Amino acid sequence: MGVTAPVLQSGMGGVAGPELVAAVSNAGGLGILAALNLRPDAVRSAIQQVRRLTDRPFGVNIWLHDDVRRPPDVAEHSDLVRSVQSALNELRPRFDLPATLEAPRPMPDLVDAALEVMIEERIPVFSAGLGIPEPELVNRFHEAGTRVATMVATTADALSAVDQGSDVVIAQGHEAGGHRSHGCKLPAAEASGTGTFTLVPQVIEAIGDRVPVVAAGGIVDGRGLAAATMLGAAGVLMGTRFVATAESQASQLWKDRLISGAGTTVLTDGFTGQWARVLKSEYTDHWADHGGPPLPGLLQAAARADLQRAAIAADDDQMQPLYAGTAFDLLDGLPSAGNVVTSVVTEAEQLLGR
Ligand SMILES: Cc1cc2nc3c(=O)[nH]c(=O)nc-3n(C[C@H](O)[C@H](O)[C@H](O)COP(=O)(O)O)c2cc1C
Repeated sequence: MGVTAPVLQSGMGGVAGPELVAAVSNAGGLGILAALNLRPDAVRSAIQQVRRLTDRPFGVNIWLHDDVRRPPDVAEHSDLVRSVQSALNELRPRFDLPATLEAPRPMPDLVDAALEVMIEERIPVFSAGLGIPEPELVNRFHEAGTRVATMVATTADALSAVDQGSDVVIAQGHEAGGHRSHGCKLPAAEASGTGTFTLVPQVIEAIGDRVPVVAAGGIVDGRGLAAATMLGAAGVLMGTRFVATAESQASQLWKDRLISGAGTTVLTDGFTGQWARVLKSEYTDHWADHGGPPLPGLLQAAARADLQRAAIAADDDQMQPLYAGTAFDLLDGLPSAGNVVTSVVTEAEQLLGR
């Protein structure tokens, strides 16, 4: 992918904007822009902004999840709307919000439009999460001169990604912050998946002779890069480490919670409807005790949009998703993203005696 440091910064909605991406790429790693939920003109302007800030390779990420690429019809889920809104109504008084049983507004269909912009813009790397790019899409990216990197959480999906043409596979262990990289909703017991230390060598045995494999999940420093290298990975992708950097767009509240090291993480589907690792909170406890199944696609996020806005306005760390991987309590301070890339590589080289 044209990088000089084997460090990828994950695409992360609301976190990975042009400044973070350019800082990582300028330090020799691969910065990846988040395009989920952005309208096509916003995707294009973010790509152009990255190009103004760096002449190094970079990536753009989007989810290919079945229910996100083809948003579900909310009218077909009226029973679920009632049960989800009833569970959320118990939390609304916290912010003086009125109770509601109304259906959320339908989610706009933005993924295919964003993909078209990425192809037109001939981006260096396309990064797919929560789904595997089909051969036709991979071919169109290849014709545009774009490499395709696909994140998976199982060996079966790694094989499928390579069979369908992906150039790089990112193996995401269950330590990872943010969403589990599955292309459809799995039952809770399966969603958690395999840890990075086990998954990475398994994926390398399955496809490592065909494409480079990158390790993701619970890696925040040079020890993680050195260990991943010993497992046979070509590099690491980090999310949580880059949330807590100077250039990240995450709120100060979120950064402070990460570097405080306090608390623990849980998997929940109560924020977006898809399984994600976040800091445990009153909301995740409430959803575990009183939430039913969530609404499909991103309708769950739309149903709680009023709570989300109110929690952000009130700087309330208990009612918004603070995505975090299990290694968050190893973070120290809020360095610049370029320093993260350099220090992770330097520490790993020392440990590996290179
Ligand atoms: C705040 C946050 C947002 C994320 N957003 C995305 C996303 O939009 N697309 C995606 O493919 N992965 C996303 N991820 C998951 C990462 O790609 C990756 O698997 C994970 O961050 C690796 O584990 P770590 O957080 O322990 O480094 C996100 C992760 C975090 C922490």
